[in-house]
Amino acid sequence: MQVTIDRFDDLGRGIAYVNHKITFVPSTVHGDIVDITIIKEAKKYNIAKVDKYLKLSNMRVIPRCSYFDTCGGCVLQNISYEDTINYKLNKVKNLFKKNNIDINPKIIKNPHPFNYRNKISLKVVDKRIGFYEENTHNIVEISKCIIANDAINKTISLVKKFNIINGSITIRSNKNDEILIVIESSDLLNIDINYIKDQIKLVGIVINNETFYGDNFLIENINDYFYKISYDAFFQVNPYVASILFNEVSKNINNNDIVLDLYCGVGTLSLNAKGAKEVIGVEIIKNAVLNAIFNARINKIDNVKFILNDSTKAVSKLNKKFNKVIVDPPRSGLTKTVIENILSINPDEIIYISCDPATLVRDILLFIDKYNISESIIFDMFSYTYHVETMIILKRKF
Ligand SMILES: C[S@@+](CC[C@H](N)C(=O)[O-])C[C@H]1O[C@@H](n2cnc3c(N)ncnc32)[C@H](O)[C@@H]1O
Repeated sequence: MQVTIDRFDDLGRGIAYVNHKITFVPSTVHGDIVDITIIKEAKKYNIAKVDKYLKLSNMRVIPRCSYFDTCGGCVLQNISYEDTINYKLNKVKNLFKKNNIDINPKIIKNPHPFNYRNKISLKVVDKRIGFYEENTHNIVEISKCIIANDAINKTISLVKKFNIINGSITIRSNKNDEILIVIESSDLLNIDINYIKDQIKLVGIVINNETFYGDNFLIENINDYFYKISYDAFFQVNPYVASILFNEVSKNINNNDIVLDLYCGVGTLSLNAKGAKEVIGVEIIKNAVLNAIFNARINKIDNVKFILNDSTKAVSKLNKKFNKVIVDPPRSGLTKTVIENILSINPDEIIYISCDPATLVRDILLFIDKYNISESIIFDMFSYTYHVETMIILKRKF
């Protein structure tokens, strides 16, 4: 049957209506006219596949990536960068609007919309190296990823020679193009260190959590600070947009603030909040906390402390009057206990940084009785994917 794609959904798929029922049509763009077959009928929605493109939308551009049709990682590469920005802006605004919250965020564009990622995670299945095709365990074999930086792309061809049959490979790098390779595999590997060192700036290789060669960390420099980042510690994947995000956090810190930074990773936001009187960061990964402590020391910041703990458990144990709380949780967002604990601290201000607007809205709804949204910013941290980074600042009403 023939339908016109009405808009995009939150995962970057086209939406059409069939007998008034919402129908998700992957691989379509707002404005396409397509012939479809419904392949799944649920109570409230259909999923369809395209049989024929009858008229292509004016929004369409030719994707730069040769794996676009199979990979599913950068679903927005078939529209212009400007259109991806409008999509993200509307996606976040609409998610809030559906919950009766009006926001008018500014959006920070990515200065490097391609070749920005400093980390990729590849799967290896039966010697085939690549990404999982979306929602499947089929491998899309790749030789480059155009949203990853050049040093990572150079490394992909090298790890293909390691003779990994099954497992995973994470390649991380910094702005100096230094490379850290992290492998999980029980196969007998064939790694020629001298050859690799001739090709790339290899800093280290970690295999099954043991250092096989060199160091098990990278050092990154963003704005004024250096960060040690262990192989298993989180770091923002886009250093260009992270730099802008860190400055935004800094701008919102005053010299009499006592700041709690939950989910602090290697201490990035805590260190950028150093203008405060005192900062305490909480993080669950041991190496990340050790990095954070080290990072405070090498950057000569002495008003910041770090605690190794689960944010859900830590807050109730901290006997301190925090007037500002920063939270930057994983995609799953905050637990109800964390939210209750933050509410009981009763801070003047909460800076919520989120990589999933759906869980962000869910959590903000639990703060909204007591707090107003004073600022909202979207950061295009993950260009050409449907993911967005959002910062919401909440100010206590009374
Ligand atoms: C999105 S990252 C943010 C890290 C840091 N704010 C940054 O910008 O680099 C989330 C961090 O939360 C940590 N984390 C996950 N669950 C946690 C928990 N229950 N308690 C404390 N930290 C947790 C992860 O290890 C990760 O470092």
